Amino acid sequence: MATQLVRRAISRVPPLSPAAGATIFRAHAAEAQAQQVEPTRKPVSDPKTFQIYRWNPDSPGKPELQNFEIDLKECGPMVLDALIKIKNEIDPTLTFRRSCREGICGSCAMNIDGRNGLACLTKIPTGGTSMITPLPHMFVIKDLVVDMTNFYNQYKSIEPWLKRKNPPETPGKEILQSKGDRKKLDGMYECILCACCSTSCPSYWWNPESYLGPAALLHANRWIMDSRDEYTTERLDAVNDEFKLYRCHTILNCAKACPKGLNPGMQIQNIKKLERLTP
Ligand code: SF4
Ligand code: SF4
Ligand code: FES
Repeated sequence: MATQLVRRAISRVPPLSPAAGATIFRAHAAEAQAQQVEPTRKPVSDPKTFQIYRWNPDSPGKPELQNFEIDLKECGPMVLDALIKIKNEIDPTLTFRRSCREGICGSCAMNIDGRNGLACLTKIPTGGTSMITPLPHMFVIKDLVVDMTNFYNQYKSIEPWLKRKNPPETPGKEILQSKGDRKKLDGMYECILCACCSTSCPSYWWNPESYLGPAALLHANRWIMDSRDEYTTERLDAVNDEFKLYRCHTILNCAKACPKGLNPGMQIQNIKKLERLTP
């Protein structure tokens, strides 16, 4: 079912309920079959054109790329600044996620000139036209907003919280760890769940529901490596699966895509190593 949906440009899914009687359409980010739309023109001293993926579920049709020209002299330096300017001054219907504006919340992840990244941390490329599309191989809710349900469910499936078999010696007291053990979590705790890595991973594109993907596996390793957690063996057993874990072929697109400089592929390698060592 999912594979069929991925293959199709625009998929019709059944109404939510007979009463609703509505038909919901979902577009796919890989299907930017653009119908070029004339740019909105006004005199500018430092022009820059953004070609932005548009799709509106309320008027189903093919996705299109729409051109917007802005004056960089009147815009902040980041791609998110440009998107906000376009939304505020040209087209208030342009839809995208953002919150912190400083690379912390992970919500402004999108594909900018062919690379996944955070719009708030990506400088506006100089010259020419820049193309902005949703995260690849994700279902589109509207414009640059993708459906993260599957991604979050996979994160939830690795049980990303401290699990103990023995309560702390003193009830309510924190469970300490050495500086060395704390350091083992470096390179993992910093993840902001932006999904840039998973949506750049070819294995995740082809098996988005059965392969956990680099982000969820990085977090699986984060809890496997936590000295305070007492479910290490169970966690290793839970991901020891041909599809959940072993679809990773160490191509390392994930590491190239991560805007926080993390290396999920390396963390996946660590899980595989521990699986080999576990009887
Ligand atoms: S290293 Fe693994 S997780 Fe990362 S991009 Fe390659 S296949 Fe995907
Ligand atoms: S590992 Fe990096 S790219 Fe992947 S979700 Fe975390 S912060 Fe985003
Ligand atoms: S707006 Fe929060 S990471 Fe970009």
